[in-house]
Amino acid sequence: VVFDDSNIASAIVAAEIAALIRKKQEENTPCVLGLATGSSPIKVYEELVRLHKEEGLSFENVVTFNLDEYYPMTKQNVQSYHYFMHEYLFNHVDIKPENVNIPQGDLDADDVLDFCVAYEEKIKSYGGLDFQLLGIGRTGHIGFNEPGSHYNSRTRLITLDHLTRSDASSSFLGLENVPKKAITMGVRTVMEAKRIVLLAWGQNKADIVKQTIEDEIDSSVPATYLQQHHNATFVLNDEAASEL
Ligand code: GLP
Repeated sequence: VVFDDSNIASAIVAAEIAALIRKKQEENTPCVLGLATGSSPIKVYEELVRLHKEEGLSFENVVTFNLDEYYPMTKQNVQSYHYFMHEYLFNHVDIKPENVNIPQGDLDADDVLDFCVAYEEKIKSYGGLDFQLLGIGRTGHIGFNEPGSHYNSRTRLITLDHLTRSDASSSFLGLENVPKKAITMGVRTVMEAKRIVLLAWGQNKADIVKQTIEDEIDSSVPATYLQQHHNATFVLNDEAASEL
C-alpha cells in the first residue's frame, strides 16, 4: 500500500494495532506484539501513545517482544533498543513492565544461547506473535537477519553487515563505536507471526523495497521471504515505492 504521507500511513497502522489490542481485551486474552526499532516505526509509536492518552487505549493486556538488540549493549546506553523503546513507547503507556521483552545486550557470552532459546520458548508460550511490525535495512534485513539468514533461523547472535554498521554510524558518532554483533529474532520467528506490517519511507529504501517485492525469494535479501507470508502488508510512501 502506497501513501503520499507517511504520517497518515503510520496513523492507519497504529489504528490497526489499537483495534487488535481492543479485540483481545474483549476476548480477555493477551495481545502479543512483535515490535521494531529504527526511525520507520516512530510515528506509529507516537500515535499509539496519543491513543492511550486521548482515547483511553490500555496496554494492560499487551505483551511485547522486540526484534533485536545490539550486542554488546547496556540497557542504559542511549543507542540501545531498550532505551529507544522506553523513550518512544513504554514510558508513556500503561504496559506492565513484566510484559516487555527485549533481547538482552548485556549478557555474558556464555549465556547468550540459553537466552535465545528461552526467548523463542516465551513467544511460543503465548501462542506466537499476533502482529509483527517491521522496518527494513538497506541490506534487506528484517530485524537484524542479514543476507545469508536461513528461512528456518531462530533467535540468535549474528554479525552485522558493513552497510548496516555504516548506516548506524552517525547515531553512534563513528563506525568504530557501532557494535559488531546483535541478537535478533530469526526469520522463522518473524514468519510465524499471524500478521506482518513492514514500513519503509524515503528514497534511500526504494532500491531494497524493489528487490524485496520484485526479485526471487533468496537468502541474499532476507526480506524476500515475506513474499511467502499469507498476511503481510508493505506500507510505503511514494519515495520508497518509486522504483516499483
Ligand atoms: C535497524 C533495525 C531494523 C530496522 C532497520 C531500519 O537495522 N535492526 O529492525 O528495520 O534498522 O531502520 P530505519 O527504520 O531507521 O531505516
